[in-house]
Parts: sequence; C-alpha cells; structure tokens
Amino acid sequence: MNVVGVSAFYHDSACAVVVDGRLVAAAQEERFTRRRHDRDAPLYAYRSCLELAGIGPADVDLLAYYENPRRKLSRQLWLALADDADPGRMPRLDATQPERELRERLGFDGPFVTVDHHEAHAANAFYCSGFEEAALFTADAVGEWTTTSYGVGDGDGIQITGEVPFPHSLGLLYSAVTAFLGFSVNGDEYKVMGLAAYGRPRYYDRLAELVTTGPDGQFRLDAGLVLPRLGGPLYPDSLAARLGVTPRLPGGEIAETHRDLASSVQLLLEDLLGQALEYLHSAHPSENLCYAGGVALNCVANSRLRRRGPFRHWFVPPAPGDAGSAVGAALLAHHRADGDRHVRRLADARLGAAPGRGALTAVLTEADVAYEDYTGRESDLLERVTDLLVQGAVLGWHQGRMEFGPRALGGRSILADPRDPAMRDRINQRVKKREEFRPFAPAVVAERAADLFELDVDSPFMLETAAVRPGVTLPAVSHVDGSARIQTVARDVAPRFHALLTCFGRRTGMPVLLNTSFNVAGEPIVNDALDALSCFVRAGLDALVVDDILVLRAAVPPAWRDHLSRAADRHAPRVHNDSYSFFL
Ligand SMILES: [Fe+2]
Repeated sequence: MNVVGVSAFYHDSACAVVVDGRLVAAAQEERFTRRRHDRDAPLYAYRSCLELAGIGPADVDLLAYYENPRRKLSRQLWLALADDADPGRMPRLDATQPERELRERLGFDGPFVTVDHHEAHAANAFYCSGFEEAALFTADAVGEWTTTSYGVGDGDGIQITGEVPFPHSLGLLYSAVTAFLGFSVNGDEYKVMGLAAYGRPRYYDRLAELVTTGPDGQFRLDAGLVLPRLGGPLYPDSLAARLGVTPRLPGGEIAETHRDLASSVQLLLEDLLGQALEYLHSAHPSENLCYAGGVALNCVANSRLRRRGPFRHWFVPPAPGDAGSAVGAALLAHHRADGDRHVRRLADARLGAAPGRGALTAVLTEADVAYEDYTGRESDLLERVTDLLVQGAVLGWHQGRMEFGPRALGGRSILADPRDPAMRDRINQRVKKREEFRPFAPAVVAERAADLFELDVDSPFMLETAAVRPGVTLPAVSHVDGSARIQTVARDVAPRFHALLTCFGRRTGMPVLLNTSFNVAGEPIVNDALDALSCFVRAGLDALVVDDILVLRAAVPPAWRDHLSRAADRHAPRVHNDSYSFFL
C-alpha cells in the first residue's frame, strides 16, 4: 500500500511517501523551489518522493492531508469576525481549497483523507519512535482549534485524550515574545532560545502573571499577552507597559532588557511544559514520551525537561514541526487503512533525494575548473578533507540523501574545526552572516559523545543540548553557558560522516566537527549538487566536497563569483512568516 502525506498552504510545505508502512521518502518543498518556508502545493517534493519510492502517480493508493480544513475554517471565521477585524484584509476562506488544489497540482484523482493537525504531529512522533506504547504530547501555535494535546499510543493506534484550545497556546506565547523582540514569528523562535542563555530571567514574574494554569493540563493566556487577530499584531501595545520593556525593532540593537526577556520566556516555557508533562504522566503513566509540534524544536527546553522527568525515554522526530506532519499524516493514514499494529523506529533522517555528481562534474569540466576525484579512494578523501579542516578550512560537505527537517546532519553541512576560537566569528561574519549570539553545533561520533559532553542519550537529530565536559575545549561550538546542541553520529547510520569524524579525531584527539547547515542566511539548505556549487562560490567557502569530488576555492574562476552573486540578488528568497499568514 502506497500512502502519500502532504502538509501545505501554511508554511514549510512537505511531502512524504510510506510504502507498506515504511517511511521511504520525505522532503520539504523549499529545498527545490529555493523559497524559504515555501507554502505552496509541494509539487517538486511530491515528484522527488515518488521517484525515491520507485512508484508513479497512478500507484498512490491514498493521499493524506495534515489537517482538517473544515474544523480550521470555524477558527478562521472566529478570528475574522473579531470586533475590529479589517474586512479588507480578510482572506478568502475556503475549506475545499486544499483538496481541490492538491488534486489539480499533483494530478491526483484517488482517495483523499484528512487527519487532524495534532493527530498528525502525534503520529509523526509515535510512528517513528519504535516504542510499543507511549504517552503523546504535542504543542504548537495552533492547529484547527487545538494548541496543545495529550494522548496515548500503542498497538491499537493513537488516541488524543485531552486538548488546550486556541488562543491559549505555548507556541503563541513564545512567538508573541519573539515578535516583541523584533524577530520573525514562525521561524526565528530559535533565535530567542539562543539569546536566552545571555540573559537573566528577571521578567519571569511579570510574564507568568499573564498565564493561569488549571487542572488536567489546562492553561490560559491573559489577553494582555497575545492578541491573535487576522492581519493584526501578535501582541498588544499594552504588553510593553505590563513588562516594563521597550519592544525591539527588527534589526535594532539587542539590549540587556531584551536578553533578559528572552531568558524569562524560555524559563516560563520550560515551567509550563514541565507542568503539562506532569499532568500527562499522571493521566498516562509510561516511561516513554513521544513529542512533536513546533514547540518541540526548542531543544534547550527538551533537554532540561527530559533530565527532570517523569518520562525517561523521549522521542522527538527530526522534523517535529508542520513539515514533519506530512510524515505523520502518511503514517497515521496507513495504520488506519491497513490495520498495521507495528511501530518502527526511524534512525536516519536522510529521507530526501541524492542528486548525483554528474551535473556537477559536467559544469566543472565545461568551465575548465580543476577538481579532485576520489572515486574508490574514500580513505584518501577523508585524509585530504581532514588536512583542510585542520588547516582551518570552512568546507561544504554534500553527501548522499538530503536530510528531512530543519537541521543539517552531515548530508548537507558546512564543516569546520571546532577547536579554533576564531572559527565561530569567521563563519558568522563571512559565511552565515547571522547574529553573533547564535551558537554553532557539534557533530560527534556516538561512541565518544558521553566522554566529551554531559549527554546520557543518543541525539541523532541534533535535538539535545548538554554541557561540554570540564577540560574539553571546543570554543567554536560551545554556547555562552557552556552548553552545546549535539548531533551524535552512529557508524551504521552515516558511515562516511562517522569515518570523517573518526579521521579528524585520530589527527586531533577530538572526533568532533562544527556542523552547520549548508546555506547562506535567508536561503533554504542546498538540495542538489549545483545548489551546493552555487552556495560554495557565493559564501566563499574554502572547499566543496560532493560525494567523491573535491573542489578548492582557488580553482573557482573569479567571474563565477560575480555572476552567481548577481543571480542570487535577482532571486532573493521570500519569507512567509508575517503575523497575517500566521493564522491562515
Ligand atoms: Fe503545527
């Protein structure tokens, strides 16, 4: 049975294919269209996933959409009818649009089902967890009417047993403060998470006054904290007076008050999540927790809460946000249609396409650009790459299938030496052009992770943070509070990346590399080999490795850089994350 899952028309459109219960492909549309957070029908992702599954459109037995447009419509109407809503900014509300548009765009005329938004989140976590039974928890801004859900999963399927209704939302709370701090909602929340480590939570009490918690995992946000309205701002003007903090303008200076507010909202989020999980555990006592939804991307909160208990074993999927709901919708629809009772473990997030090197070598040969070909000589390639890294190179590393989810995990990564204190600033200023306060992450061979970091679990999807152990010096990947967001790399999951880390470790004593996503600021992560070549040139990386091919910066004709820079300006990425689209 072939089931396709789709999330679309909000942000981060994606597609997934499940064949006989196995997740065989998943991809996000932005990687193909090069439009960050692309929300259109995932046509390119659909084609790519079908190709990876080895099936054609006629072989798709069921298409599952990640939310229920009819249930969502009533919430959209409620928002649109708010007292002072501007009718001119009211969107055309149409619950039939997703099915109609997907059928038209994807050319699909088979059975179409919808699953509820939080069911899709919960299924994404549970059906990739490998747990026979687990408590289920989801938290995001909003899906249909639900912002937070509690449930249980076992061989009989998943069941949502409790919900917190809109507009009382942990995701909205965090997004409101994200907007207040001058960052983009629905995308820049992780900047607030990074900034939090620099501040003190001295606004905690004032923020906490705006939230009331109740029994059974319920909570309510005061109207003074969020102002959900179509086309309107995310927070009321009165919030500044209530907090005693001036909102930061986008791009403005980050003051101590802003750092402290970030710290406060992070701590409040952790405390509210902690209370929610205590309730969930009382309702569904289990050692296992499956957790998804946009809030689950807050890896700082996840790590602290996992250590605190009561759940001992956590599973957060590699794409816990709405893109990952394409996976959840497909897996849930499969289990419901097929009666499958099996829950498989997802060990590898590399679910996308592996564009070959052919297009790259053709371009390099045509342009007379020298490259080194290590086909059949992997150890020579790894020694060469290690040489470059030890000499301080910042290197584009493009290998095999593309990762699904927001993190680069060694498939589409920029790698560098984590021991170099100047590396972080160098990459930030030259390559990523991002805020200085944002840390870079380490990838480490799984078998040495506990020696170097205070980490007691595997973190294959880079969703755990832990302190760097005393005596271990990794300045380029250590946050201001001494923590790091760690990816553990297992030999059997990613053999070549593991071998590179091992090679670097043999040379330096530290089997760790700085691993950041292969893109420049404002663009999606690179997809195919030509995206990688373009990004390598424009970002001024020192070297590029695509499969077995190595290209050095010195070999790149100067004209390429000028040409590609102009092309990049013409195709400046669009971002779909304004407050208006936030509620659509
Ligand atoms: Fe969601």
